[in-house]
Amino acid sequence: MSLALSLCLAFLFSICHGSHSLPARRSPHLDGLLPNGNFEQVPNKSNMRKRQIIGKYSLPHWEISGHVELVSGGPQPGGFYFAVPRGVHAARLGNLASISQYVRVKRGLIYSLTFGVTRTCAQDENIRVSVPGQTNELPIQTLFSTNGGDTYAWAFKATSDLVKITFHNPGVQEDPSCGPLVDAVAIKEILPLRYNRGNIVKNGGFEVGPHVFKNFSTGILIPAKIQDLISPLPGWIVESLKPVKYIDNGHFNVPSGHAAIEIIAGRESAIAQIIRTVAGKYYILSFVVGDAHNGCHGSMMVEAFAGRSTFKLRFESNGKGAVKVGRFRFRADSNRTRITFYSGFYHTKLHDFGHLCGPVLDNVRVVMTR
Ligand SMILES: *[C@@H]1O[C@H](CO)[C@@H](O)[C@H](O)[C@H]1NC(C)=O
Ligand SMILES: *[C@@H]1O[C@H](CO)[C@@H](O)[C@H](O)[C@H]1NC(C)=O
Ligand SMILES: *[C@@H]1O[C@H](CO)[C@@H](O)[C@H](O)[C@H]1NC(C)=O
Repeated sequence: MSLALSLCLAFLFSICHGSHSLPARRSPHLDGLLPNGNFEQVPNKSNMRKRQIIGKYSLPHWEISGHVELVSGGPQPGGFYFAVPRGVHAARLGNLASISQYVRVKRGLIYSLTFGVTRTCAQDENIRVSVPGQTNELPIQTLFSTNGGDTYAWAFKATSDLVKITFHNPGVQEDPSCGPLVDAVAIKEILPLRYNRGNIVKNGGFEVGPHVFKNFSTGILIPAKIQDLISPLPGWIVESLKPVKYIDNGHFNVPSGHAAIEIIAGRESAIAQIIRTVAGKYYILSFVVGDAHNGCHGSMMVEAFAGRSTFKLRFESNGKGAVKVGRFRFRADSNRTRITFYSGFYHTKLHDFGHLCGPVLDNVRVVMTR
């Protein structure tokens, strides 16, 4: 499709939907906790052996397999501490254990799962989340929040109207109860993307994204190596080893709209998009950086790339929610141009050195210039 045609389509879209820069969208049909998604409905006493749940259907609304425990947050026997920041209870998946649930969805639509998960004993714990035919295994070795609030997102395309969602611990440890702690699980229908007038970047304000827990959020980690089509953050590619964090304006300072991205792991967390361009034409890439008002401080630098052009935007953060706009012109070399952003430096919170954080990115726009 030529640029002129795509711009024209984008324009038609905006007319059809009567939209301006922030179009009124329909709300997703599904956007909330799964039934007993926070594990606060607990098994009957008779179906518990200490913390272990006995019986495939004993955890309300879930089906379990293998050694699954229902744990309460706080200090544990053996000197462990389990943080359960949302509510009291969480499910702990032991060696090769799984929990699953059937969810009614609409075939053909894309859904994103948001889930709080932390490792409990082994260093190298993973969690595998799947629906039939689609699966992703996430390493949960790195703790991004020091309060146990790490939350991830993963998306799938529904191939039927009823899907079985499964969380599985693929690991085997000496202690069979060792394994990831799942604290809360929510689902959201991801609405189709549309271009905003004049901007050839899709979802440039990060307004379309995963479900955000209302009560408590440390941001949602968008893992690496996800596709840009079936994604909790459609349009974007996390092309690095480490995730980027999706932050919402209910819990963080975001430069505009409802959401933005926090680039939390320096050059190890990069976010990119491949846009349609016309070879030989000039474009302006503009974006907003800032800090999330979360105590992330220091000299920050966001590096932006568009094809072979690069641009560095520096700013001083004292963690109080400042913003700065970057803008540069580039010439497209081909009909596809990759735009990429990463943070030049690593940062941690002022009073919490274990908590990785970084600059916030929002409002990414590319327009053609004459
Ligand atoms: C708990 O016990 C009640 C009464 O025996 C039973 O009706 C219910 O199905 C049980 N719940 C679960 C989750 O096993
Ligand atoms: C949020 O808190 C309310 C009241 O404490 C509770 O009923 C609800 O289940 C919580 N939601 C989540 C996602 O934990
Ligand atoms: C883009 O460029 C490639 C190679 O330069 C060419 O094969 C392809 O047809 C072009 N696509 C469009 C949509 O112009």
